[in-house]
Amino acid sequence: MKRGFLGLGGILLGLFVLLFAYQTFSSYEFKGYVLQEPVKAPEVMLRSVEGPVRFADFQKKYTLLYIGYTSCPDVCPTSLANLKLALAELTPQEAAQVQVIFISVDPARDTSEALGRYVKMFRQDFIGATGTREEIDWIVNAFGARYTIEPPDENGQYSVSHSAFTMVLDRDGYYVMNWEHGMSPTDIAQDLKYLIKHGIPVSAQILAGPTYTPVVCAVTLVPAHVKNGQWLYEHHCAQCHGLDMSGNPQWQVELADGSRLAPPLNGTGAAWKYSPTELLSIVKEGRNLDKPIHMPAFKSRISDWEIEFILSYVQSTWDVNQLNYQHGFMTLTPQPTSTPAAPLAPIITSTPVP
Ligand code: HEC
Repeated sequence: MKRGFLGLGGILLGLFVLLFAYQTFSSYEFKGYVLQEPVKAPEVMLRSVEGPVRFADFQKKYTLLYIGYTSCPDVCPTSLANLKLALAELTPQEAAQVQVIFISVDPARDTSEALGRYVKMFRQDFIGATGTREEIDWIVNAFGARYTIEPPDENGQYSVSHSAFTMVLDRDGYYVMNWEHGMSPTDIAQDLKYLIKHGIPVSAQILAGPTYTPVVCAVTLVPAHVKNGQWLYEHHCAQCHGLDMSGNPQWQVELADGSRLAPPLNGTGAAWKYSPTELLSIVKEGRNLDKPIHMPAFKSRISDWEIEFILSYVQSTWDVNQLNYQHGFMTLTPQPTSTPAAPLAPIITSTPVP
């Protein structure tokens, strides 16, 4: 009786150990975000120097899609360079099962030839493709990506804000996973190795759940606007908000009459949480004008354009996530609130003169 009991315990323990080992050694956690519901790639024919490009042509391979444009100052080159480095970590046999396609959302400037030249700077087998505005929008919408053509500067130059994630299409032409901007080449390579060998296990899709928040995108600022804005900022705003935009050192202390000293405008403050329209209106109309300390109204002193330039300069101090949030490309993942207590030092309450 006793032996039988021990025997059963032993078997159970053995099973438990096996299960544990299976769990530990068989589960792989993707670095990318696995879509709970894969999206079938639309049947669109794009142009490239190699000729027409359809997603269906690359079935049997993993297709890595990135949308951008060749005049993109930093985000596109970084992403393409990371993909190149990731592919270099694969064996040649593995790399042959992956196709990178860069889709330009700027067909007015990016010809097939220019696109071809651009992507081949990164890797000979990368493909650069584009289409008509309708074709591009069809693809971008199907995959839940986004882009905005920004207003041109005085020389007619414009930048394009766009989703900056890399989308992964599986061998059947389904969009199944994406990697956020800034994912390391090694993480990408690990995911690719696993995908090529095992595909995406159903369990990973079920686990994916609705926790996905960031759609990380690239908002690029027009350099000429930023430069003009800096000059204007130094003349109109720096005396209260600080040359480095860090605000008055005591901005966190609330004064008895409810007014507060000029807060930071750089990423350490809260200015990036306002929409572009709200920011424009704060600077034009002022804020708490009835209080001894207030944000002055600038509408009669500088033009809307000048305010836009200043705001471009202000935005140039924010990180990519703050820019994305401001442009409505991203919702914030709730952060644990741990606001440091404001120092209670004596405050000089003379009204600053603009
Ligand atoms: C005379 C000092 C002064 C000048 C000059 C000034 N500001 Fe302010 N600003 C303030 C004060 C004080 C506040 C806080 C007002 C409040 O909320 O009660 C403020 C608030 C702001 C806010 C809201 C920030 C937040 O986190 O709520 C923005 C944006 C802003 N200022 C932009 C500017 C810009 C751009 C300029 C230059 C064109 C400028 N300010 C010039 C004093 C100034």
